[in-house]
Amino acid sequence: MALEAIRAILDVDTGVDDAMAIALAVAAPTIDLVALTTVAGNVELEHTTRNTLRVLDFVGASHIPVYQGMSRPIDRPLFTASHIHGSDGLGGADIPESSRSVEAISAPQFLIDAARQSPGELTFIFVGPLTNLAVAVALEPELPRLVKRLVIMGGAFRMPGNTTATAEFNIFADPMAAAQVLAAGFDATWVGLDVTTKAVFARAQWDALETATAPNAQIVRKAGAQMFLTFNRPVFQLHDPLAVAVAADPTLVDAPEEAVMIETGGDYAAGQTIIQRPGREEGWATKVAKTVDAPRFGTFFTATLGLS
Ligand code: RIB
Ligand code: CA
Repeated sequence: MALEAIRAILDVDTGVDDAMAIALAVAAPTIDLVALTTVAGNVELEHTTRNTLRVLDFVGASHIPVYQGMSRPIDRPLFTASHIHGSDGLGGADIPESSRSVEAISAPQFLIDAARQSPGELTFIFVGPLTNLAVAVALEPELPRLVKRLVIMGGAFRMPGNTTATAEFNIFADPMAAAQVLAAGFDATWVGLDVTTKAVFARAQWDALETATAPNAQIVRKAGAQMFLTFNRPVFQLHDPLAVAVAADPTLVDAPEEAVMIETGGDYAAGQTIIQRPGREEGWATKVAKTVDAPRFGTFFTATLGLS
């Protein structure tokens, strides 16, 4: 089945899996990547923005503009994952610096302007904390009706979190932003740990890239190094690349509509993404990925990046 071509904006907190997601979005033949927007998350905004520019240049996409966004969450201090992504956000990967600068307007304003200029045409793919989108919706409440589709890497709906016992990083980092996006009324698909933890790149596949020279293969090799060599993990979880793949091919996941709530307060469960029990009133209707065709995603990932 031929995939529908999409025009997409990708919001990132570049980090190691974001880097692979950027390369995948650039390489995917049916994704017209209009622009990238950056947010603080895995590391501070200056690093996520610097990394985004570096990765785009490295994969030959220096024509794609980058708009810088929010430097901290809406209602709490910045919480980073530098212990996973390294203090630079790319695990120390030796990727040349970019000489490019970000665009003049902010990411939230760009998201609004782009959606107004192309009503009903754009797919928004968000793979970091949702701060930029929450601010954009606060500025333009009509935004959900101007955006064709929203795909979010975030949440842990039927499993424990990866940051706290109950919360996945992107949602834990800014629970208020996530709750505001949830309530805004986007046609959204949430791609959470329930499926992204099954979308993995194995050590043997990474080892096979040792002598790779193609830029996309080198991004995967360099961005994966810390996970495999420093943390000695058996697999690299492709959280953000799966969200990009789901934007290109929604059939990769089964994502039924659920009634969802997001905890924004409390001492222990902030950032928890909750699927309400049937029959109860609370919760916002949205699509949540429950299962993934992991082998077919793996083929999409390796074939699109030329790794196979
Ligand atoms: O929980 C995984 C998510 O948190 C990914 O987007 C990763 O880049 C980090 O931001
Ligand atoms: Ca991310």
